[in-house]
Amino acid sequence: MTTRNPYHYGTPVEGEHFTGRRKELSALLARMRDGINVVVISPRRYGKTSLLRAASARMSRWRPSPAVVEVNLQRATSPARFASLLTVAAYKMPGARWARARQAVPDFLRRLRVTPSVSFDPDGHPRFGFDTSFQAAELDAVLADVYQLLADEAERRPAVLVIDEFQVAARLGERLPDVLKGLADDNPSVSLVLAGSKRHLMEQLVIRQEAPLYGLAQHLALGPIPDADMVAYLLERAEVGGKRLSEEVARYLLDQAGPVPNDIQHLAYDAFELAGERIDAAAVDAGMAAAVEHDATLFADALGRLSPGQVRVLEALAVEPPSEPYAAAFARAVGLANASSVRKALSPLLADDLVVQRGGRLVIADPFFAAWVRAGA
Ligand SMILES: Nc1ncnc2c1ncn2[C@@H]1O[C@H](COP(=O)(O)OP(=O)(O)OP(=O)(O)O)[C@@H](O)[C@H]1O
Ligand SMILES: [Mg+2]
Repeated sequence: MTTRNPYHYGTPVEGEHFTGRRKELSALLARMRDGINVVVISPRRYGKTSLLRAASARMSRWRPSPAVVEVNLQRATSPARFASLLTVAAYKMPGARWARARQAVPDFLRRLRVTPSVSFDPDGHPRFGFDTSFQAAELDAVLADVYQLLADEAERRPAVLVIDEFQVAARLGERLPDVLKGLADDNPSVSLVLAGSKRHLMEQLVIRQEAPLYGLAQHLALGPIPDADMVAYLLERAEVGGKRLSEEVARYLLDQAGPVPNDIQHLAYDAFELAGERIDAAAVDAGMAAAVEHDATLFADALGRLSPGQVRVLEALAVEPPSEPYAAAFARAVGLANASSVRKALSPLLADDLVVQRGGRLVIADPFFAAWVRAGA
């Protein structure tokens, strides 16, 4: 019980828990170095944030060390909060001029047109706040000022603005994408890196031809991590954890978990916990059952929010992903009137990434949810 489980899931991974992604990492790093904008897109839990962190870690070893401002839009629940996250991140930019000034905070604030309130946390780090009367136009100014700080830095070192979870941008108002586009165009030396999941939202923002940020950036789509990398990782970590795992069982585990890196690590975690000295196929099965059981209440709640027709569609997908979900035969099989009712039932499930397209078939994205639905079907 004292050995730590060698696998990790649920939160971004670094170092020993990070594998593969060599090509993606070098593509991303080169663009960050050269002031080229990048959009990193993948479904949830494929490893966008982990990749961004790996890139930051790598860049921090460059000389001169790059100027990086990183914010997570998930935490930006209002324009004022976004402005405050941006300001804090800009203030903390490694190697900035104000960091060396005796009066660092006033020196930094002089560079902003909208002055935030300043408080200090117990460790003496400043927090910047914008009050509730904060307007969209003021957010534009904060963004422009942060871009200007980065553009100044870009004269002597690579400068990057990273915005993670960009798919929620819409809740910060309609203007944000246009404002970013303008700033990116005006500051070609700064690399803007946007990362997001939820394909339909990213499409509305960046990918579609009529999207406000269309054509702005190099797209970097994260797919699954190749099996060979994942198998090598599973074997190496099992050894670190002091349990035996064969390549055959590692491949069986991949089969059960599906392509999402988070799901693979999740299943590996539970299989490792339940295995004796050897992680065998039975331990993988037991791990699967445990993972399903842990989330059973969540799954029941999720199902409870769906219409009876949607539940029947999900059950059918869980048992056997249909080759032609929009054919009359499938509609009949799930007790829906016709293909358009199937489409209507599926559309919110697809929008939430609960159901995804894989290998030309519609499947339930989460393998544990799929197993739970299958068991009840
Ligand atoms: N390069 C990697 N090597 C090994 N495991 C990884 C890798 N990238 C991601 N994972 C697995 O996926 C999990 C989620 O990673 P991460 O949070 O980076 O994904 P994300 O795409 O940012 O997710 P979200 O869409 O929820 O923000 C990690 O906890 C880990 O289990
Ligand atoms: Mg993330």
